Amino acid sequence: MSAENPAASSADDVVVELKDVHAGYLPGVNILNGANLIARQGELIGIIGPNGAGKSTLLKSIFGMVNVRSGDITVNGESIVGLKADKLVKRGVAFVPQTNNVFPSLSIEENLQMGLYQNPKIYVERLEFVTGIFAELGKRLKQRAGSLSGGERQMVAMSRALMMDPSVLLLDEPSAGLSPVRQDDAFIRVSDINKAGVTTIMVEQNARRCLQICDRGYVLDQGKDAYEGTGRDLLNDPKVIGLYLGTLGTDAA
Ligand SMILES: Nc1ncnc2c1ncn2[C@@H]1O[C@H](COP(=O)(O)OP(=O)(O)O)[C@@H](O)[C@H]1O
Ligand SMILES: [Mg+2]
Repeated sequence: MSAENPAASSADDVVVELKDVHAGYLPGVNILNGANLIARQGELIGIIGPNGAGKSTLLKSIFGMVNVRSGDITVNGESIVGLKADKLVKRGVAFVPQTNNVFPSLSIEENLQMGLYQNPKIYVERLEFVTGIFAELGKRLKQRAGSLSGGERQMVAMSRALMMDPSVLLLDEPSAGLSPVRQDDAFIRVSDINKAGVTTIMVEQNARRCLQICDRGYVLDQGKDAYEGTGRDLLNDPKVIGLYLGTLGTDAA
């Protein structure tokens, strides 16, 4: 249940807001059925929910890849509905899809340069920021991204997105397909990114781990926000545990 009041929605610190969004891919078929979400400056927002609930679709709707049929999506107070990727990048939206999120034939350095093709002047400054979080990448800039492990590629993908100094970072299942140790590392890195001040919206199948690190979370079910609360509140909510955390999480609470 979205608990935000209208006054909070217009506050200056709201970076991303979805208001009653109905959206889908095919004519007459909506995947998002009235989704609401708010991400405020500096927040780490988690989105969990069953397979097929529309989590990836929600991120794609912010990044202009889904037809938004009603409702509104704003970034820094302005509607972004209908804008294409290049305009969204200018508005400060960075999206890391779940798969195919690096250019495998390019080096790490070239991948990072691709991340700020719209503003190459800030390369040195942004490289410093990114390698402050992902130090190991800074030592291997000439290595081809295709030769990296899954976890390392995920780091390159997140780094590429961070190069442009985004207002909001959208991450679709950063821990997917990684070994348990690498999954832990992915969550720590997402925390580090957020602690460095980046407003982040993360979709995760690993629901418990996600709620443990996020400021606030949303449970998405059948294209609607079914529950909203702090990570801690959702982790301890018997209904959320019963319906969504029983089999989804791999960690102990
Ligand atoms: N490109 C697409 N075209 C048509 N339907 C899609 C497409 N991508 C996803 N869907 C459908 O949208 C629904 C929600 O998918 P998705 O957002 O990927 O869910 P989640 O990420 O929560 O598992 C599913 O029924 C899926 O089949
Ligand atoms: Mg998904």
